[in-house]
Amino acid sequence: MWDEPFLWLKALHIIAVISWMAGMFYMPRLFVYHSQVAVGSEASELFKTMERKLMRLIINPAMIATWVFGLWLAVTINAFDPENGGWLHAKLGLVLLMQVAHAMMSRYRKAFFRDERPKSERYFRIFNEIPTVLMVGIVLLVVFKPF
Ligand code: HEM
Repeated sequence: MWDEPFLWLKALHIIAVISWMAGMFYMPRLFVYHSQVAVGSEASELFKTMERKLMRLIINPAMIATWVFGLWLAVTINAFDPENGGWLHAKLGLVLLMQVAHAMMSRYRKAFFRDERPKSERYFRIFNEIPTVLMVGIVLLVVFKPF
């Protein structure tokens, strides 16, 4: 059991996914709070530090680890072969949308860092739901493999 490389890869993939998603769910929340405080205030400076560390120490490395272990898994089980269904291609479509949300967050973080307020508080409350919806779709596809 413990000497099964495929299960180690899958465990590492899931650990990376959880870390990436934790950051993707938390960052827009920080933007909501950050939008409410005055430019230059002590709270604003604290949010900048929290956002920078969350992006650099958690979100970016976890995203890279998710891709590395995910692609490694896919090659190991020959999941790109059309004979094995189209679920991986559909999943990758949703993961690419997650990647777009990630890139947008990165842009917003840099704008906040420059003391801009890139979007409204309401926008970030709605934006907050996008990673959740994508995550649900991705997990359903990989667990049920409907096609
Ligand atoms: C970045 C590109 C990704 C690739 C190439 C990839 C690929 C894979 C592959 C090949 C498996 C093994 C499936 C099997 O055991 O039959 C897997 C498992 C899994 N992936 Fe991904 N994945 C990626 C991203 C993600 C993301 C973003 C999430 C969640 C938001 C995710 C969630 C999962 C889960 C929960 C499992 C375990 C499913 C199970 O054991 O039944 N993956 N992934």
